[in-house]
Amino acid sequence: MKFSTLLQAFALASTAVAQFDVQSAPFKLVLLSSDCELNGTLLITCHEGAAIEGLCLGDKDGATPSINEVFHFNYSSEPFDNRTYNIPGYVTWILPASNINVSSALGLNYSPTSNVAIPLFFPGSDFGTTMSFDMYEYLNVQGYIDDTKTPINGQGNTFVEYRWHLCDTYWGYAYTTLAWVLGKGKPQNPTCTKVKVKRVFI
Ligand SMILES: *[C@@H]1O[C@H](CO)[C@@H](O)[C@H](O)[C@H]1NC(C)=O
Ligand SMILES: *[C@@H]1O[C@H](CO)[C@@H](O)[C@H](O)[C@H]1NC(C)=O
Ligand SMILES: *[C@@H]1O[C@H](CO)[C@@H](O)[C@H](O)[C@H]1NC(C)=O
Ligand SMILES: *[C@@H]1O[C@H](CO)[C@@H](O)[C@H](O)[C@H]1NC(C)=O
Repeated sequence: MKFSTLLQAFALASTAVAQFDVQSAPFKLVLLSSDCELNGTLLITCHEGAAIEGLCLGDKDGATPSINEVFHFNYSSEPFDNRTYNIPGYVTWILPASNINVSSALGLNYSPTSNVAIPLFFPGSDFGTTMSFDMYEYLNVQGYIDDTKTPINGQGNTFVEYRWHLCDTYWGYAYTTLAWVLGKGKPQNPTCTKVKVKRVFI
């Protein structure tokens, strides 16, 4: 997204919750990998803290996904450049609490000392990271500022990145989780293997 004024950016930020007001049909998130063992494995939410979940390795045969393997995509009812794919939104998961189901948005969590970010579900949408699915249903994150170029262009064209990896991570627990590598370099975490994440509607 491009903001012509700071005020516009703030105005959008303050309406961010209303912005992604439509929820898609339910889907599974399937890993694609050159490693045959991993290929076709579903992502499943795993406990990282109170009401906080990461994405771990689930079933390989996803014929009957558990509630922890079912996700939605929240996007805007206002058409975005009339696109039919690469539409911005949040990947959401419904956290079952005792008397209430809490929709939680997936967001990247960063550590200043690592280039490996961890996607986590937090209740609500405040900590969500805008993501999208391309025409092949691959999950991506879009950007528009390429800081590898000089002079830097703050109004550059939107580009799409697929920096998903599967890594041994530690946020609340030591797990093998989905992770996102920051920047164009290699992950500093030696356990990371490159994967793609595909949406498959149920
Ligand atoms: C991974 O699975 C996909 C979809 O089932 C398949 O098209 C692809 O060939 C598989 N790749 C490997 C390396 O097994
Ligand atoms: C979207 O589609 C409508 C109707 O076809 C058209 O009038 C409008 O200009 C399009 N908007 C963009 C940003 O392409
Ligand atoms: C939460 O969602 C589950 C699964 O869709 C449903 O069975 C259950 O009734 C819901 N609970 C509440 C409190 O809405
Ligand atoms: C996703 O959209 C549904 C339907 O509008 C809404 O009930 C839910 O709260 C949204 N989830 C998040 C995390 O914003």
